[in-house]
Amino acid sequence: MLAGKHILLIIGGGIAAYKSLDLIRRLSERGAEVTPVLTQSGSQFVTPLSVSALAGKEVHQDLFDLTKEAEMGHIQLSRAADLVVVAPATADLLAKMAHGLANDIASTLLLATDKRVLVAPAMNVRMWTHPATQRNRATLLGDGVLFVGPDEGAMACGEFGPGRMSEVPEILAAIDAALGDGPLRGRRILVTSGPTHEPIDPVRYIANRSSGAQGTAIAQALANLGADVVFVTGPAEIPPPDAVRVIKVQSAKDMHAAVMSALPVDAAVFAAAVADWRVASASDQKIKKVNGALPVLEFAENPDILADVSHLSDQRPGLVIGFAAETHDVLTHATAKRLRKGCDWIVANDVSPSTGIMGGTENAVTVISDAGAETWPRMGKAEVAARLARRIADALTQPKEA
Ligand code: C5P
Repeated sequence: MLAGKHILLIIGGGIAAYKSLDLIRRLSERGAEVTPVLTQSGSQFVTPLSVSALAGKEVHQDLFDLTKEAEMGHIQLSRAADLVVVAPATADLLAKMAHGLANDIASTLLLATDKRVLVAPAMNVRMWTHPATQRNRATLLGDGVLFVGPDEGAMACGEFGPGRMSEVPEILAAIDAALGDGPLRGRRILVTSGPTHEPIDPVRYIANRSSGAQGTAIAQALANLGADVVFVTGPAEIPPPDAVRVIKVQSAKDMHAAVMSALPVDAAVFAAAVADWRVASASDQKIKKVNGALPVLEFAENPDILADVSHLSDQRPGLVIGFAAETHDVLTHATAKRLRKGCDWIVANDVSPSTGIMGGTENAVTVISDAGAETWPRMGKAEVAARLARRIADALTQPKEA
């Protein structure tokens, strides 16, 4: 699968750089051509000689090497690759990438590239969990940068937690996914996920129990098949998947705006649990307790994002999929909902508390389309997602059989 692929591998400074030597070997064994770049701090951990010996190529280390500049400009170097991999990606490199700095060879290549970039972070646990690093990670995810890891475990510095660079097989799998010719390669797919928060005042809001687990799993499964996923998520409990473009929103109105500006897309999956109503005029100040008087909240209807997108005349995605979370007469309600909302498929599930589905790890769904209803056995949410993603891939490649 990697035969003939060209990978630009940037090795940052960190004890995990030794794993990058093995990564070069494994990539070469699989037929990939690796062009190594070693940062100055990277060269404190592995030698240029071992890197170039394993890659079978000269290692690039200096931004202002005029001889090399004459042979192959750094801009060209960053574009000749099929994929740019940064392993280990230090906190400093992530910060430079997030802010568009270009003051050494690695950051210059990363700013100049027009190819996908996959990073394998490695750093001390406090550095990884620091709000600044997490802000940078969120920015980079939004820019479409792919992440693998970091893993959790004992670290060379003696601390324990997330920060260890992923192991080589995991990085190889992420490279495969980023380069793979999945059936959804080149397709742009929108996924909404999570709950929405509808403000009452600056400190209070109305929400629901959606964890975002099913929407997150669907986004991941679509990305695994090669799709370019735009993931519009409300404030969910679980973190968004790595390999997608993340747009974070709070309210249904924000989600509506984010979805509309993400169009056009080839397909859209509406897995978010969007609040049907919002407080008509949320207060900009905290509502105070007044003796004996109870506040009265007036509600206004939220835009129905699924119905609006389904009824678009010019930018309607080729395939629109809604969810119907019901507590009784699931199939009757879901069938009617598909027609009312105008979507192509509806994924119906029973979210009665006794099923344990809302917020749980499993789901039992029925997919309703023009062709009828198809009930799937109860399975893990990741499995439901994988099966749905394959069905979407089939429908997009043979549209008439949807
Ligand atoms: O009407 P109901 O909320 O049951 O419909 C559920 C489906 O509609 C889900 O796919 C959900 O994401 C979508 N929806 C939406 N915008 C709303 C309400 C629901 O996109 N305001």
